[in-house]
Amino acid sequence: MGIDYTRFFSSISLELRASDVRELLKLTEGKKIISFAGGLPDPRIFPKNELAEIARQVVEERGEQALQYSPTPGVGEFREELGRFLNSKGVKVGDEDALVVTTGSQEALYLAALALVEPGDTVFMEEPGYLAAINLFKALKADLVPVPVDDDGMDTDALEEKVKAAKREGRRLKLVYVNPTSNNPNGTTMPDDRRKHLLEIASKYDLLIIEDDPYSYFTFDDSIKFTHIKTLDGEGRVLYLGTFSKILVPGLRLGWVAGPEPVVAKIELVKQVVDLHSSTLSQYIALEAIRRGIVDRVISMAKSLYRRKRDLMLEALEIHMKGVASWTKPVGGFFIFLKVKGVDMRRLLFKAVERGVAYVPGDAFYITPGRGRNTARLSYSFVREDEIEEGIKMLSETIKEERPH
Ligand SMILES: Cc1ncc(COP(=O)(O)O)c(C=O)c1O
Repeated sequence: MGIDYTRFFSSISLELRASDVRELLKLTEGKKIISFAGGLPDPRIFPKNELAEIARQVVEERGEQALQYSPTPGVGEFREELGRFLNSKGVKVGDEDALVVTTGSQEALYLAALALVEPGDTVFMEEPGYLAAINLFKALKADLVPVPVDDDGMDTDALEEKVKAAKREGRRLKLVYVNPTSNNPNGTTMPDDRRKHLLEIASKYDLLIIEDDPYSYFTFDDSIKFTHIKTLDGEGRVLYLGTFSKILVPGLRLGWVAGPEPVVAKIELVKQVVDLHSSTLSQYIALEAIRRGIVDRVISMAKSLYRRKRDLMLEALEIHMKGVASWTKPVGGFFIFLKVKGVDMRRLLFKAVERGVAYVPGDAFYITPGRGRNTARLSYSFVREDEIEEGIKMLSETIKEERPH
């Protein structure tokens, strides 16, 4: 007792900050709150009975393998099936690529960053952007450069200017992190011309791209056309990260990274040190879930369920927030990003929670300190349909009370 442990902590652990979303979930615990905060899947799409049956069969019939240690890059059969699955979804994974199964795509991001990023290396990413990526790159002491976004996601003209400036200043250009489809937190999707421009920039300035893609498999309207950056890549510059969290269940903790073999081989080496391999049992279960068409069924349920919820939230915003705020109109994913004129949404959060509604203050997703105070991320994925309008109404009342007249 009485020991000051600070001197024992690594600079990385001292740099890490608790996720706002997790802190917020603590705040709402035990209260009757309509929460637009966490980006959780709706458990109604979890195929519980099928997974129970598969788990029993896998353990009974293939238990010797499924309960055993397995190779670091993943169970061979599963990786083959996953490769076919990705190609069937328009993600080109070719002979020159390698694929490593990871413990969620969060681990894939962590392993890739550990394999690639040295303190001071320049990393470009969207602002606002994915919170866990910001925290990770900051903890690794990367030179993190925010790139503005508009309704079409990352502004690649602005990116090019930032890359040019960094090059002029002699900084070590390393990679671009991007979440191009149904972005978290913006809800935006990059059109193909921007994706191609991004690849041109990577080629011209010798950068790698991390394409983080949890949401592209269930865009809400089949007429929405986009091509995965990995598929457009002719040079081997893209590391493609994916996950079963949104297209099966997050509890299996399964994701993957696919990309040029030499880079993925390094990632595999890092993984060996971090956790030897991802859950063998989870991999056998997901293998069967793909083979039996369960993943495709979850995807089609996800499309219609989340489309319905998005529509309900957009309608509620139209009714209650017109003239008060502006917002994005996502083609997929879990999130709508709200901009409110003249209101500090971080300060407002406590009042909103008192009233019975929660969200994530948007400044959490900004790299630049102090930016984005008038923004909020609203998630429609988990909240019950019949609570969406009530929650938006409460939020709009809280905002209207606060706004200067
Ligand atoms: C953009 C993005 N990347 C990665 C993840 C991590 O997902 P998981 O580790 O469950 O695969 C998420 C989860 O919400 C996300 O939104």
